[in-house]
Amino acid sequence: MTGFTSPAHFLEVDDFDAVTLKAVLSAAQEWKTNPLAVPRCLEGKGAALLFEKPSTRTRVSTEMAIVTLGGHPVSLRGEEVGLGVRESARDIAKMLSGYCSLIGARVKDHRELEAMASVASVPVINLLSDRSHPCQAVADLLTLREHFGELDGRRIAFIGDGNNVVASLAYAAALSGLEIVVSSPSGYELDSDVVARAHNLGGTIELISDPYEAVAGADAIYTDVWTSMGQEDQSDIRRAAFAGYQINEALMATAGPKAVFLHCLPAHRGEEVAAEVIDGAQSLVWQQAENRMHATRAVIVQLLGESSEGI
Ligand code: CP
Ligand code: NVA
Repeated sequence: MTGFTSPAHFLEVDDFDAVTLKAVLSAAQEWKTNPLAVPRCLEGKGAALLFEKPSTRTRVSTEMAIVTLGGHPVSLRGEEVGLGVRESARDIAKMLSGYCSLIGARVKDHRELEAMASVASVPVINLLSDRSHPCQAVADLLTLREHFGELDGRRIAFIGDGNNVVASLAYAAALSGLEIVVSSPSGYELDSDVVARAHNLGGTIELISDPYEAVAGADAIYTDVWTSMGQEDQSDIRRAAFAGYQINEALMATAGPKAVFLHCLPAHRGEEVAAEVIDGAQSLVWQQAENRMHATRAVIVQLLGESSEGI
């Protein structure tokens, strides 16, 4: 590995600075409306996508992002690769770097992504870990930007588990001037180190346990599942703990008619969200899901440094 220079990776939203994140969002928006302008920067190249956990949106949107950049996605399931069992994350990343121009991975343990990034000679992208979901957060910002225009000064309320999705959302909000309030039941709050990191990025982040208080004045209400992948044995206890945190019509009415509803999906109607809300007029979830492709495409181009504008 003599002369090895680590390429840019995207393991968390704040791997981009505020200026870069804004440029990525602008590129995503531009290429969404003008697909002919999408750079063919992966022409003749491969991208390996490794999934240790189930995925629908992330796998399909990332594969299609790669296809529209001219590349060939190779998706691999955790059990066939045997991450950390058949072969170490480092050995897998070194080997895949020899075939592919990009590695994406959805892992159970975030440290596996860090291990891959420490040795990969191509960019590594986090496709969800126990700690974070940065590509989702870029799509979330894109959706809010399409709806509201400027993000600066808008307020988003995340109601639910202080999990991987809201951690990345908090950093994304901090970097784009979006205020965020997170409302969780006792014992399920966002980690204090995530809050501190968002503060250090210049963000305005509040934790308010009462969901009604949290949504007052919010422009967007966001939730995610109460039980994330890998926590299935806790689902009964979590269902009880989160009972007062469902996004329903009463909560949306507290925020007001101009507030929008977001969810990274998959959703459980009747648990974290009422059907009337996710299927109602204030819901942007399908636009948000579609934006996964546009957002991830712009992230990939940024990492490959191939944009004509040098985004
Ligand atoms: N939102 C999201 O990451 O969905 P998948 O788990 O289906 O990829
Ligand atoms: N928090 C969820 C997000 C799924 C996209 C999970 O980790 O399972």
